[in-house]
Amino acid sequence: MDVTPTPLALLLLGREADPASERGVDCPGELPAPSDPDLVARARAAKEKLGEKVFILGHHYQRDEVIEFADVTGDSFKLAREAAARPDAEHIVFCGVHFMAESADILTSDAQQVILPDLAAGCSMADMATAEQVAECWDALSDAGVDEATVPVSYMNSSADIKAFTGRHGGTICTSSNARRALEWAFAQVPEGGEVPSKVLFLPDQHLGRNTAVRDLGMSLEDCVVYNPHKPNGGLTPEELRNARMILWRGHCSVHGRFSLDSVEDVRARIPDVNVLVHPECKHEVVAAADLVGSTEYIIKALDAAPAGSKWAIGTELNLVRRLANRYAEQDKEIVFLDRTVCFCSTMNRIDLPHLVWALESLVEGRTVNRISVDEQTEHYAKLALERMLALP
Ligand code: 13P
Ligand code: SF4
Repeated sequence: MDVTPTPLALLLLGREADPASERGVDCPGELPAPSDPDLVARARAAKEKLGEKVFILGHHYQRDEVIEFADVTGDSFKLAREAAARPDAEHIVFCGVHFMAESADILTSDAQQVILPDLAAGCSMADMATAEQVAECWDALSDAGVDEATVPVSYMNSSADIKAFTGRHGGTICTSSNARRALEWAFAQVPEGGEVPSKVLFLPDQHLGRNTAVRDLGMSLEDCVVYNPHKPNGGLTPEELRNARMILWRGHCSVHGRFSLDSVEDVRARIPDVNVLVHPECKHEVVAAADLVGSTEYIIKALDAAPAGSKWAIGTELNLVRRLANRYAEQDKEIVFLDRTVCFCSTMNRIDLPHLVWALESLVEGRTVNRISVDEQTEHYAKLALERMLALP
């Protein structure tokens, strides 16, 4: 019997149907039941048997039950570096989402295997920019006569194809920790004094691109235009493309994009003296109303350094906020989730203990399941773009 949930069923379950779940994802028959009381012991035993052969990376947005088994936790930038720094690990089990596992595969040797415990762990933002759409966009830039003055900067949250496009066209990858440096680098690449002013095509998160351009580089909102891949020429005239400095792809995070100005105003009214700290994937109006803005690593460091008695409302993924709230409760730091209705990232949450146990026990039995492998040509150009990022000052 086919038990793959239909898009309607997913909707009713509160989970989003996304192209990742249509990537040919098997529902493994041998997956342990989530109610199995021995799961923790089984995960421990399998990890111990595999020893140094396995290295488990855990993104900050993963469930507690999974984070418990991570050898290292981090944001996407830190995890990319950690993967690249482990040449001796035969198996890298990536507890995160598909684009992160692809990046790890690109940055590790062919002898190493990168495993994503559930192939349905995609990212709706990464799926908002396909290779065909981006090629069409580049044609529109070329027709407007601005392609040669444009440097692509792609957020880590993009497919390997988009990273390869970026590498082929002289661009770099960025994460939320280094977006400012990536943009400064990109604007320095185009020779001054050309016929058209230098510009950046920022993919696929319009909010990170806009927030970084305006907050960190001092641009105005008028310097930014939004390219809509569902409209001819992105819905922009050649003149608009020529006048823009930042061409923002019309993509967004379905979690961070839900925080609203109302949620900031509401929490300020409920909790006097609260500090509002949000991730730069949030909308510009939310970021503008916040006290502090930063990547997941930045958020963790800010809370670590916060004085006892301080109060915080955090606008990022709920697994991380809950963990931080519990961790710092003893130090009398009050940490709340910025919005009362925003949910977990449904695709991050697909990696659960049953999938992790299944992936690890399969390795113990000599079987590699859910290997993520990027083809050679894509890898070559995507690596160029990733290495440019790792070399950013
Ligand atoms: P960082 O890990 O770069 O903070 O990105 C957040 C995110 O949404 C990852 O999917
Ligand atoms: Fe993608 Fe947003 Fe989930 Fe990150 S939090 S994996 S950007 S949908």
